[in-house]
Amino acid sequence: MSLTIKVLFVCLGNICRSPTAHGVFVQKVRAAGLASRITVDSAGTAAYHLGKAPDSRSQLAAKQGGYDLSELRARQVVKEDFLEFDYVLAMDEQNLKELRVLHQSVVGDARCAPQLFLAMLQDSGRPSEVPDPYYGGADGFVEVLQLCEDAADALLRHIRAQHNL
Ligand code: 4NP
Repeated sequence: MSLTIKVLFVCLGNICRSPTAHGVFVQKVRAAGLASRITVDSAGTAAYHLGKAPDSRSQLAAKQGGYDLSELRARQVVKEDFLEFDYVLAMDEQNLKELRVLHQSVVGDARCAPQLFLAMLQDSGRPSEVPDPYYGGADGFVEVLQLCEDAADALLRHIRAQHNL
């Protein structure tokens, strides 16, 4: 029996950044033939957009990169996520702070502590946060996609090394 490794991406609304990371990482996991070993989800720290599909601008940028986000639906992160997921990855420092509060409430039972998604890049020349594109232009959504693609590659390498996959 092989254990499943569970990855959760978290942003504020769960309609732009974390669904982009979710869709990109799922595709990379499938391409690596690891879909039975690694499962992926995403959530938001806020409840503004519960049940909604990803923002149309995120869906468009993703589609142009070859990723389909249309089936994803927003949900809010809960403290119980720390009992289930092996990696809880925040898009920015503010969301990391919110996640630390939830993590603290279940710390003895948590499977992991939250960390920044871009910490996977381990490159001091790169940004440490995925910038919030919501109130900006189309360029911001393309930048989010590119950051998610780079960090998803690094995350997959990290998980493969950590779990001998
Ligand atoms: P996300 O972007 O956190 O990447 O999903 C946002 C989505 C919605 C809002 C802010 C950021 N909002 O204020 O509604």
